[in-house]
Amino acid sequence: MKNKKILITGAAGFIGSAFVRLIAGKYAASDIVVVDKLTYAGDLKRLEPVKGKFKFYKTDICNKKQIDRIFAQEKPDTVLHFAAESHVDRSITNPTVFIETNIKGTQILMDAARKYGVKKFIFISTDEVYGEIANGKFNEKSQIKPNSPYSASKAAADLLVQAYIRTYRFPAVIIRPSNNYGPWQYPEKLLPLAILRILGGGKIPVYGRGINVREWLYVEDCVRGVLLVLQKGKIGEAYNLGSSCESRNIDTVKLLLKTLNAAPDRFEFVKDRLGHDIRYSLDSGRIRKELGWRPRFKLVQGLKSTVDWSLKHENWLKSKLKDINKLYK
Ligand SMILES: NC(=O)c1ccc[n+]([C@@H]2O[C@H](COP(=O)([O-])OP(=O)(O)OC[C@H]3O[C@@H](n4cnc5c(N)ncnc54)[C@H](O)[C@@H]3O)[C@@H](O)[C@H]2O)c1
Repeated sequence: MKNKKILITGAAGFIGSAFVRLIAGKYAASDIVVVDKLTYAGDLKRLEPVKGKFKFYKTDICNKKQIDRIFAQEKPDTVLHFAAESHVDRSITNPTVFIETNIKGTQILMDAARKYGVKKFIFISTDEVYGEIANGKFNEKSQIKPNSPYSASKAAADLLVQAYIRTYRFPAVIIRPSNNYGPWQYPEKLLPLAILRILGGGKIPVYGRGINVREWLYVEDCVRGVLLVLQKGKIGEAYNLGSSCESRNIDTVKLLLKTLNAAPDRFEFVKDRLGHDIRYSLDSGRIRKELGWRPRFKLVQGLKSTVDWSLKHENWLKSKLKDINKLYK
């Protein structure tokens, strides 16, 4: 592992930064190359704990020239591709940037990776590419059938990665994680938004009747899974990465209120998200059996840890308030 050079896209984001914090120090600083456009969702504060332990390029993955230059200069042998527009609600309002970054950006990266002989390219997809499932679980062979502009753009990229594997023997591996939560998540997503609302004296907005089910994966468990795939994942394969901790949004919110010692009625039902998927659920048997991954956090522990972190980083969460208030007027 020591002699490899890794290029990580989207590492100023929520999950990518958790990955860099996990591996920083295990590699020389010059062998961890971070590429991030620093959109509204990117923030280098997430990487402050590991400052000086990586090399940073502020670059748009859709900028073919700059990406080519970085690959020519750095010659990474491994790429971890986290960068994406990641918020479903924003994709409903403006799908264009999702098509650009999530699809075209992925193609540009794969073309650069082919040109410069990258040995392993890990694409971070999502459980949402399968669409919704009322009963049962999706395995890696389930049909890709996304429902939101966000998940459709991720699915297009996922399929493009599969096409490159088949057509060019491109050395890619796909990971499809379930709903992540934990420290440093941008407070547009349900849990940090809920915490921000409670800290601000308000109520938590819950879509529809709160019956949508999500499989909650603590971000540290997610990035340990990503590291295992980096070390031992088979080229050409896809791995689901889910915790089995399924919970309806309303139950998750009630558990969060309890964790925050807030009154149990500090939530309100709001107009449902358009096309809202009812349930996601992954069969993650493959990564468990083949790579030995196990989640360490149940939802109760993960929420406790997230709340503890949020109370210590209230100012960071509140620094995003203006943007959030524009998004959820
Ligand atoms: N958060 C989840 O629950 C979840 C679940 C499954 C899969 N995923 C996937 O994991 C990945 C990371 O998600 P996240 O929650 O950390 O997202 P995030 O929105 O927190 O971070 C995305 C990062 O990508 C960067 N970025 C966006 N567009 C870019 C561009 N054109 N060029 C370069 N950088 C760009 C942003 O600046 C930001 O730092 C995404 O691919 C997402 O689809 C997320």
